Amino acid sequence: MIKKRVFSGIQPTGNIHLGNYLGAVKNWVDSQDEFDNIFCIVNSHAITIKQDPALLRAKTYELAAVLLACGIDMKKSKLFIQSEVDEHAALAWILDCNIPMGDMSRMTQFKDKSQKNPKNINIGLFNYPALMAADILLYQTDFVPVGEDQKQHLELTRDVAERFNRDYGETFKIPEPMIPKMGARIMGLDDPTKKMSKSEGKPNHGIALLDTPDEILKKFKKATTDSENLVRFNPEQIGIFNLLTIYQIFTGHSQEVIEAEFEGKGYGIFKVAVAEAVIEGLKPIQERYAKLTKEQGYLEEVLSHGASEVRKIAQKTYKEVKERVGLI
Ligand code: AMP
Ligand code: TRP
Repeated sequence: MIKKRVFSGIQPTGNIHLGNYLGAVKNWVDSQDEFDNIFCIVNSHAITIKQDPALLRAKTYELAAVLLACGIDMKKSKLFIQSEVDEHAALAWILDCNIPMGDMSRMTQFKDKSQKNPKNINIGLFNYPALMAADILLYQTDFVPVGEDQKQHLELTRDVAERFNRDYGETFKIPEPMIPKMGARIMGLDDPTKKMSKSEGKPNHGIALLDTPDEILKKFKKATTDSENLVRFNPEQIGIFNLLTIYQIFTGHSQEVIEAEFEGKGYGIFKVAVAEAVIEGLKPIQERYAKLTKEQGYLEEVLSHGASEVRKIAQKTYKEVKERVGLI
């Protein structure tokens, strides 16, 4: 039986954090057996915000190592760097010519990011979703496992694919988002009204996957909560709800069991328990990461093998698209 294809991407900026892991990467790893998987480090998306070139390069390899340490298995999945496959940018251009200005102008991530970077509101930042659509459509993707924040971009991807198929004939598979029931939107520890994000510079905002146990404990102890002093899954207690979600995913316990565990106990005890569960859960990832960084040449080999495998698929789709639109 032919497996359905999964494609997803992650930017090599800042530090990969608990939101990325619980909203996306953990699900990539957990469903690897079921699907034909392609995972992409989207460095071309990263330059929509000004990057230091040497740091971007270093972060790209660091992220590749973290993803392998999280359990991406080269026997089951392909991992590659976006800029190594030219067809991504090339297809984005053809899609650009088929996306109405009005559709693109509705993207909320552009609005958020341009508010955060008022001095560098560039065309690439505006156009970011077209490149993302190209990433997905090049591989005739069935499912795209992402966090909640990418839902709107997925809708735009589906719209442009449907429009293209209608105007030029059946060319692209229409992809479906795969958004987890739990962890699709992990919030910042310092401010649970904002999603945990790589670009938020505040020290107690996010937990990076490579944070030390001490850092993790300290950040959870400082997490913003409320004055109810009740550990229960009440969505209105946004800070506690966020910590409970994290605890539930790491322990695998049911809501009832967790609420009973902390009945009558204060937030101090609860926060330490969450920190310990996260420290324990990240330990094997951090150990594998440390080993991987010692194996010189291994990462380059994995990534160049990944790129050469996926390039064949990308070239096939791109050639067909060019013919469809009359580009010789
Ligand atoms: P990015 O860091 O923007 O490259 O995101 C990579 C993946 O992580 C995407 O699938 C996002 O939807 C997901 N993601 C990012 N932030 C969060 C968050 N706070 N909670 C859940 N998922 C997230
Ligand atoms: N835009 C996504 C994010 O910021 C990253 C991304 C780029 C992506 N291309 C993709 C995700 C293709 C899924 C599929 O999180």
